[in-house]
Amino acid sequence: MTSERFFTLNNGLEMPSIGIGTFMAPDHEIETALDAALKAGYRHIDTAPVYLNEKAIGKALRRWIDTNQVKREDLFITTKLPIHANRPGDVEKTLKKSLEDLQLTYVDMYLIHAPVAVPQPASGAGSSLTYDRDSNGNLIIDPTTDHVKIWKKMEDMIEMGLTKNIGVSNFNQKQIQRLLDNSKIKPSNLQIELQVYFQQNDLVDFCKANNILITAYSPLGNRDMVKRRLAAGTLKEDIILFEDPTVVEIAKNHNKTGAQVLLRWILQRGICPIPKSTNPGRLQQNLDIYDFKLSDDEMNRLAGLDKGLRICDTSFFKGIEKHPECTW
Ligand SMILES: NC(=O)c1ccc[n+]([C@@H]2O[C@H](COP(=O)([O-])OP(=O)(O)OC[C@H]3O[C@@H](n4cnc5c(N)ncnc54)[C@H](OP(=O)(O)O)[C@@H]3O)[C@@H](O)[C@H]2O)c1
Repeated sequence: MTSERFFTLNNGLEMPSIGIGTFMAPDHEIETALDAALKAGYRHIDTAPVYLNEKAIGKALRRWIDTNQVKREDLFITTKLPIHANRPGDVEKTLKKSLEDLQLTYVDMYLIHAPVAVPQPASGAGSSLTYDRDSNGNLIIDPTTDHVKIWKKMEDMIEMGLTKNIGVSNFNQKQIQRLLDNSKIKPSNLQIELQVYFQQNDLVDFCKANNILITAYSPLGNRDMVKRRLAAGTLKEDIILFEDPTVVEIAKNHNKTGAQVLLRWILQRGICPIPKSTNPGRLQQNLDIYDFKLSDDEMNRLAGLDKGLRICDTSFFKGIEKHPECTW
């Protein structure tokens, strides 16, 4: 099943069909996790400046490249333009900073992280924890966001050789259509939350019709986020996707884990999952999804689990919902 190992993007370039996510993976864990991931065979890594781990990822990659354990051209590295730099004038310098931290001369995919924007934080540090807030704890927003103007700069990044591909994340259909109507280079990738309880079927159909590959974030239903939301009171019931009875039963049929079924279901829909793990055993498990196939009946039963239930909500971005382009 070698052909399943890659997706072909709308410009003919290939992307490994599973990646490792790195959100909530702190520096002290990520370097060893990446060693385990690269050893297991991962070649696709998803990061972002707001994950605050690009430097640690860069160190691990440099070590692997310099010791000839991996060739740069065999890696697929995605990073993102953060919401605190979501302005045309910030695109080039922000990508260059990511490249410096990642110790690379180009990335394979550069995504606009989200359709919203906040001002550069006064502290200069770029994470949701450092963004400026008003006295009620609401984020100060920058409502002037113009996606078409930002996209023109994203196109320049390809022309300058700083990225091979460009795309968007957390955009809705209307926002993507506007880019399709006003671009030289079409987005080749949309990264969105997509898991069995939040299947986003209309957006998936729209992207398929427009030859835009979807990457599924939080494909396992990010347990750390669920726990945070339960503690914050923004979620009433615990959600453990891999313990859903249908998922468990299908996993038994194939002698696989629930997590592997959740990932295989995404892959079989022609969507790229990017599960995060820093645990070597789970990293290996998440990669071992090419040696079994879900039947049509199993695919349909999993499709029936959709509840429209988003896990990554705006709990940490209180106030961002006032941004005119907010999609969360
Ligand atoms: N574009 C965006 O706005 C956006 C938003 C969110 C996420 N993302 C990207 O998508 C990636 C994945 O999403 P995510 O991190 O939110 O959530 P996720 O991948 O759905 O879940 C990660 C959690 O699942 C655990 N886990 C991993 N493999 C497992 C397995 N086989 N069995 C049981 N538990 C397992 C991990 O713990 P261990 O580490 O202990 O294994 C971690 O707690 C992120 O890391 C990030 O790169 C992008």
